[in-house]
Parts: sequence; C-alpha cells; structure tokens
Amino acid sequence: MAHQVRAVVAREKGSPVSLETIVVPDPGPGEALVRIQACGVCHTDLHYREGGINDDFPFLLGHEAAGVVESVGEGVTDVAPGDFVVLNWRAVCGQCRACLRGRPWYCFNTHNAKQKMTLLDGTELSPALGIGAFAEKTLVAAGQCTKVDPSVSPAVAGLLGCGVMAGIGAAINTGNVGRGDSVAVIGCGGVGDAAIAGSRLAGAAKIIAVDIDPRKLETAKKLGATHTVNSKETDPVEAVRELTGGFGADVVIEAVGRPETYKQAFYARDLAGTVVLVGVPTPEMKLELPLLDVFGRGGALKSSWYGDCLPSRDFPMLIDLHLQGRLDLDTFVTETIALDEVEKAFERMHHGDVLRSVVVL
Ligand code: APR
Ligand code: ZN
Ligand code: ZN
Repeated sequence: MAHQVRAVVAREKGSPVSLETIVVPDPGPGEALVRIQACGVCHTDLHYREGGINDDFPFLLGHEAAGVVESVGEGVTDVAPGDFVVLNWRAVCGQCRACLRGRPWYCFNTHNAKQKMTLLDGTELSPALGIGAFAEKTLVAAGQCTKVDPSVSPAVAGLLGCGVMAGIGAAINTGNVGRGDSVAVIGCGGVGDAAIAGSRLAGAAKIIAVDIDPRKLETAKKLGATHTVNSKETDPVEAVRELTGGFGADVVIEAVGRPETYKQAFYARDLAGTVVLVGVPTPEMKLELPLLDVFGRGGALKSSWYGDCLPSRDFPMLIDLHLQGRLDLDTFVTETIALDEVEKAFERMHHGDVLRSVVVL
C-alpha cells in the first residue's frame, strides 16, 4: 500500500519550494518507512534548490531528521516499527576496504532506499542526500536509521543528522581535541558552534570563537567559547596567537569554506598543530601557500566529512550526553516552524538570523 503525504518539493532550479502531496511506497527489502517528527533546515537544502548539487529535479528536500519507524521491509533486523530514530545520509556498507579496515566513516559505498517516492502524476522525486524528510513520511534504507533514547525532543535529535554532528565530529573525531587543548573555531554558524560544543565536551581549556558577525560570537559564548574574536575588526591569526601565549591553537577548526579562512586556519595553529577543515569550498576556489610554510610548520591538515562520524556509535552517545545535561543541543534550535514555512526559513538562514530553523510535524 502506498502512502500519500504532504512534503516540501523543489520543482525547478532556483524557484521557491512548494508543498505537495507525494506518494511514498511501502518499504521493500532493506528499507524502512519513517514517520517524520522533526527536520532541520540546512544550507545544503537551499543548495539543492539552487541546482548547486545536481540537476535531478524535482527534489524532495530535508535531511536533518528524527522520527518513528512505521514499518520495515524484508530482512530488516536493526530497527523495528515504533523505534525512535535519527536519520543519516551515510549508511555504510560494512564490506568495502574502508569498512574492513575499521574506518567505516570513510566508506563511500553508502546506500539509500531503492524504491522511488513520486509526485501524484508519477514523476520520480530525488530525495536530498537520500533522505527527503520535509515530509510527513519518508522512505530510507534501514541502515540510515539509528535508534536513540526516545525521551529527547525530536527537534534536537534530528540535528545530529547533519550540521551539528559535522561540527561536533570535526572536534572530537577528526581533530581529536583533548583535555587542556587550545582550540580556535573560525566561522560560528551551526557547524562551527557545534565544533565549539564538541571541544568543550572534550575538555578543551581554551576555545576561541572567530566570526565576522557579533551575534554569532554571543551564541558561541553560550556554547562554550572562552574567548571571541571579531575578524572584521581584528586580524584573527594575530589574535589567536596572542591568546595562546604567542604560539597558535593546538587545533583550529575552519567552518566557513572560503580561501581566506582556510588560510587563517593554516596560520592560526601552533607549529605541529592540527587544522580541521569542515567548511565546504566551491569547485573554483583555490589557495596559494608558500611551500616552505606547508613543510616547515609540520602538523596535520585534515578534512572532516560529516564529522567522520559513525552514526550507530555517535548518535546515541551524543543524545545520552545531552539528556544528562552535559551537551547543550537546545541552543541550536533557534525556532521551530511548520512544513509550509521552509521557504521563509531559507531567507532567515541566508541572512544569518538563525542557527537552525527546525520543521516540527
Ligand atoms: N570569517 C569568519 N567567519 C565568517 C566569514 C569570515 N570571513 N564569513 C562568514 N563567516 C561566518 C558567518 O558569519 C557564519 O556565522 O561563518 C558562519 C557560517 O555559518 P553558516 O552560514 O550558518 O553555515 P554552517 O551551517 O555553520 O556551515 C558552515 O560548514 O559543513 C559546512 O557546508 C557547510 O561550508 C559550510 C560550513
Ligand atoms: Zn563500506
Ligand atoms: Zn545538512
């Protein structure tokens, strides 16, 4: 039996999204049908709408989601109807070289539901990041569902599905931030702020937030920044060095994705420190650095893909820490909105007014 539900669809490049009735099939082998309770609005959704990812319109947007499993297909054993789950866009295969070497977060053999969701006229939809959760129900691969403690609010839980996990993971998984470390985070949007929260969780002694927007620096303080630098007013490399006894930070996390901030990250770290790149640049962007600096400063330049997370390990752990009051995730939810307010949320996101708008169903 197919299900007809309301969903947010991007029909064509650059046009505002619309609320449509879509058809969601019952789960086939290895698939799960999830009743969505909350889904955060991410830049990537807007990016899909603008045609910046690919041209497979129409897109079913939304990918930072939590909900309840309604039914599962043949062979699904990890989740069952009634389970409260957070969705992820990196269901790993368990069999490729990366998985077999014990680094499943590098798996690129990821999978989504095989069956297609459609518009009423039968037009196939492309679910954003293989999820499509600005919808009352969506169809995903069972491996995209991770069970977590159901006492958490769905709006908070869903955030782990993308940006917040990317930031926390950049600090704790990729950057290996440890007790007593100094950390600088360049760019304090949802991702950078999550890197700040992750650094606090990891026991960093000094957390320096760098942004050009004073509003963002205020929220960063709330999430654990011990110092703030407005890089419109002050050279951030100098400021970070000054705040770290002249050395630079042990770990610098770049969460903007631009050449100038990549460069700042490179020079704001201590010799032999680590730079974690989590901001995503565009294909045209280039960075020129003196090779002697690349060689001479030692240390590591690491990019962080979805926070190098392993959903089955990281999602339940972070939700538990949140429920224990040790990880503030509430601050990331700036506002909750209805399904028909996504377009307005894009606008607010574009103006930097929100960390996250979250659709609650
Ligand atoms: N220097 C410092 N901060 C900057 C600069 C700059 N030159 N330019 C922009 N910023 C700040 C913005 O003020 C904002 O607070 O960077 C932040 C970016 O945050 P968001 O736009 O909310 O984006 P976010 O969702 O946090 O994602 C950041 O990480 O995963 C990637 O694709 C994502 O590239 C994006 C980045
Ligand atoms: Zn794999
Ligand atoms: Zn996202």
